[in-house]
Formats: sequence, C-alpha cells, structure tokens
Amino acid sequence: MSSLLIKNGTIVTATDHYSADVYIKDETVAMIGVDMDVQAGRTIDAQGCYLFPGGIDAHTHMELPFMGTRASDTFESGTLAGLHGGTTTIIDFAIQRQGDSLVSALDAWHEKADGHAVGDYAFHCAVTDFNDETRKEIPAIINDHGINSFKVFMAYKGFLMVDDRQIYELMQELVKHGGIITSHCENGDMIDRTVQEFLDEGKTEPKYHVLSRPAICEAEASGRVIDLAFQAGCPNYIVHMTCEEALERVRLATFRNQRVFVETCIQYLLLDDSYYFKDGFEGAKVVMSPPLRKKKDQEALWAAINQNMIHHVATDHCPFCMDQKEMGKDDFSKIPNGAPGIENRIELLYSEGVDKGRISLNKFVEMSSTGAAKIFGLFPRKGTIAVGSDADILVFDPDVKHTISVDTHHMNVDYNPYEGWEVQGKTRTTILRGTVAIDEGVAHVGEGFGNYLKRPPFSAQF
Ligand code: URP
Ligand code: ZN
Ligand code: ZN
Repeated sequence: MSSLLIKNGTIVTATDHYSADVYIKDETVAMIGVDMDVQAGRTIDAQGCYLFPGGIDAHTHMELPFMGTRASDTFESGTLAGLHGGTTTIIDFAIQRQGDSLVSALDAWHEKADGHAVGDYAFHCAVTDFNDETRKEIPAIINDHGINSFKVFMAYKGFLMVDDRQIYELMQELVKHGGIITSHCENGDMIDRTVQEFLDEGKTEPKYHVLSRPAICEAEASGRVIDLAFQAGCPNYIVHMTCEEALERVRLATFRNQRVFVETCIQYLLLDDSYYFKDGFEGAKVVMSPPLRKKKDQEALWAAINQNMIHHVATDHCPFCMDQKEMGKDDFSKIPNGAPGIENRIELLYSEGVDKGRISLNKFVEMSSTGAAKIFGLFPRKGTIAVGSDADILVFDPDVKHTISVDTHHMNVDYNPYEGWEVQGKTRTTILRGTVAIDEGVAHVGEGFGNYLKRPPFSAQF
C-alpha cells in the first residue's frame, strides 16, 4: 500500500478555498485535515501553493486521421504533455467512418489509446452516419462501453457532416438511454458554398479560412441544434463555442427554461482573427474550425463564463506540424484544421483568467475540471479534491513566471500558437491517482499509465 501526504497547501475546488493537508492512500484521497499527524511513504511540502483538482480536457483529438493526414500527438505524447501542464484526464473523440459501425470506431480508438496513454482518458462517440444499424448500437455503447456522450458535426460536408434528421433521430435515441448530444455547430452548406466561391476567384491564402466561416454560420447552427434538442428533450452540449452571436442563441434558449451546456476553448478566449492576416503562411498555424474571432467575442466569452453560461474551457487539441499545414499552401481549404493547446490550457487560464482578475479561483477550477466532470459523468471520482475521489491533484505555484515556447513544450508539434507568451503561475507537481506523475518538469510515469474511464448513463448534472 502506498501513501502520500501533501502538507501546507491551499485546497481550491469549484466551491471552496481553505488551507489543509491531504492524505492519499493508494489511488484516492483518504483524509483531509488541519495539521494532520500521520505517517506517509512520501510527504510533499506545498507551502505557498494551491492544490487544484487535476485538469480535465473534454475535447481532444489524439492521432486523429483528418483531411488527408493525422494529428501529430499520439495518446502517449499528448497525454504526457497534458500532465506536464496539469491535465490528468482527457475525453477524446472516437469518430465513426461513414459506412462503418460505431463500435469499429471505438475499437480503433482503444487500439490507439489502451496501453499507450499516460494520462487517464475517456471517449465521446462521434456519429457521422446515423442509420437503422447505428441506432441499434446506441444502448450497448452507453451501457457496455461506458460512453454517454455522442458528437455530431454540422460542418465538414462530405465526410463528417450529418443532416438535421440524423441529429434529431439520434437525440431521440439518446433520451431513451441516458446519453447527451455534443455538437460542432457551423452551417456546413453555407461554408461549403463560400469556400467554393473564394477558390473560384483565386483566393487561396489562409485568411480565406476565417472569411469563409463567419460567426453567423456558427450562430445559425447553434440555434438549430438547440431547437432540435429542445424538441427531442435531449441534454445538449455545444463544443468549442467562439462568438457573441452563438452565445446569444444560448441566452434565448434560457428564456424558455432550456438548459444548454457550453464549452469554449482557451484559444478563443486569448487569440483573435488578426492571426490569419499575418504575413506569409503564419495564419495556417491557427486554421481551426470554427476560426478565431474578434476581440469583442473574447470579451463576450469571458463574460459568459462569469454568467454561468459556459461550463468548460477545453482545447480541441488537434496539432499538425508545419509540413502538414503546408498541404494547403495553395488552397486554404486543404490546410488541416486544428491547433495544439493541451499543455498550456491550465496555466494560460490561470494566468489570463485568475491572475488578471477576469475570473475567480473557484471559477478557474470549475472551468478547467469540475464542469466537465459533472456534465460527462466523471464527478465526484474526478473534478474535485474530496475524500474518496481519485487523488488527481496539481500542486500549483502562483509565484512562478515562465514563457511558453516550442523549444520547451512537450507536445509533438513544431510550433506553439502562444510562442513567447509570459505566464504567471506554474504546475509544479502533477499527481495522478496518487502517483507523482510530473515533478518540477520531470516525468515519473510513462506509456500505459493512463486508465480508460467508463462513464454512466443519465449523469449530466451541474
Ligand atoms: O479545427 C478543428 N477544430 N479541428 C478538429 C476537429 C473539430 O472540428 O473539432
Ligand atoms: Zn469541431
Ligand atoms: Zn474538435
């Protein structure tokens, strides 16, 4: 039996903030108390540090086959990078190939992750082809595979996009079996047409990515999926929301007492669309969908966090190296969509959020961990520091300043969108299920340490 005592830290959860010691036995928190007099195999002095619940990133794409290439982080490299930054659990998307079964997607993702992931992981099931056969798979996916969240893409016409009838029928099925729908909201038809118009006019640079996907495409699709979910009575989580116009659709839904869960990502809070207009091919680094928006949208997102309209800040971590991005050198629509972020999310959210006074410490924990745990059925095992919870704990030093750089990050990608950003506060130690996984930048766990997490039906709560 192993034991670990963390002394003198300040525990911060989504609701509390107090000084106490934490005693961990094996993989879980066994006791929390003041000046505890217990013997432990190892003691960590966390004087001057916060103790946060391990970060949860509910939106990642490790090794995603996409747009003719593959996301450059494996489950091993990506989850290890996450641990360096303080993310102990990810929820990745197992994406069905049109024509194949849902189970074949899960098999493919288990093959990539099992025995390889360093951090803990779960899967959402992305449905790209809903028909009578896939409908029959839903109960077993929920009850046997432990997956309660199902993603639909309203964009990426021709390979991932589904139509409204499929979305609505999937929702009806999920209501019966205790699932939640998660949606990528952009109007794929409008975008497809606009992309074609630009290409016909010889407009091929990265800036046409953002110009072909205006905020109204996202707002329209967000409103549509909210309406479908209302009619079906299905819990609804919108992934990577970026803009004021889409938030407005969520706000409208609250007038009829509808509950909509909303995720944004760290890049939408911190980066803006001027990135696409930089010289040369720089803009390709942030070609992602939906695209980066305007500064006024960043303000709207921060405000929405404080208004309890946003429930989670994820990353949509989907890295591609520059030689992969160059597949779209002469055609912006061929630049693989996605960017890295898993390693930097927690520290950026603390630095730009808490340190700059935009959000409280409790809100930071809610956005980085607790919110996702509650919505996706991981709470209270994950997402908090409490007796009986998994001992996923960050020892976070708010006094350490550092600078983000591709030269020091651990993600398997040859640029960092936040290159040169000065960050206040650093994850000193990452503890995953009672094991010191990272200490002062040194990894003490490796390939295969991560566990697959099953999640129960009917668990979306907040
Ligand atoms: O650009 C992005 N977001 N790439 C990953 C796939 C998705 O839409 O989430
Ligand atoms: Zn998406
Ligand atoms: Zn994504």
